[in-house]
Amino acid sequence: MQGNKKSSNVVWHHATVTRVRREELNGHRSVILWFTGLSGAGKSTLAHAVEEQLHQRRCRTFVFDGDNVRHGLCSDLGFSAEDREENIRRVGEMAKLFLEAGVISLTAFISPFRSDRERVRSLVPHGDFLEIYCRCPLEVCEARDVKGLYKRARAGEIKDFTGISSPYEEPEVPELVVDTGNLPLEESVNQVLDLLEERGIIASAR
Ligand code: ADX
Repeated sequence: MQGNKKSSNVVWHHATVTRVRREELNGHRSVILWFTGLSGAGKSTLAHAVEEQLHQRRCRTFVFDGDNVRHGLCSDLGFSAEDREENIRRVGEMAKLFLEAGVISLTAFISPFRSDRERVRSLVPHGDFLEIYCRCPLEVCEARDVKGLYKRARAGEIKDFTGISSPYEEPEVPELVVDTGNLPLEESVNQVLDLLEERGIIASAR
């Protein structure tokens, strides 16, 4: 799908209510928090826990979760490299719109390919895409096996399974690495909130 624009004769309409005005109204900046990591690494759990804290601080937020998005917007996609690329492209474009909407979006997708993540990064202004690597060893994800998918992948019942029969490319220079394999959730959440404060996205709580 990439670079495959079919619609010509379309003209961009400029809004008078701009991102900056929305951010002023909200009292915080918008940003994309891109959580990446293996299935079972804790991406969704961390994203939702961060969202809870941000909401309590009266920030406007939204979580995009791989499993949920694949029920709707991306229900036509599977797990081939091509389909994952398209999945991430769509989510990236969606997150870009939310950035304009003044929202802090938190995305929880395996997004195993570096090139796909870098493409999303390049869609938005510098500093508006914060890559957060949820680092958790495969053995830990597999031992947790919350959804029972690793067992099925090992048994050959699910093909192209990330970490088993499909690669995961670790981020080279993410904005943050969170060791979700051994940190308590609260500690992981604080690391993300600290990053947002350091970057001036949200006001410091202290
Ligand atoms: S991504 O690779 O395109 O970013 P995404 O995050 O949307 O993946 O979806 C991953 C979720 O789909 C996993 O958490 C798991 O529940 C489920 N899943 C089903 N099949 C696979 C597979 N072959 N590889 C990885 N995850 C799978």
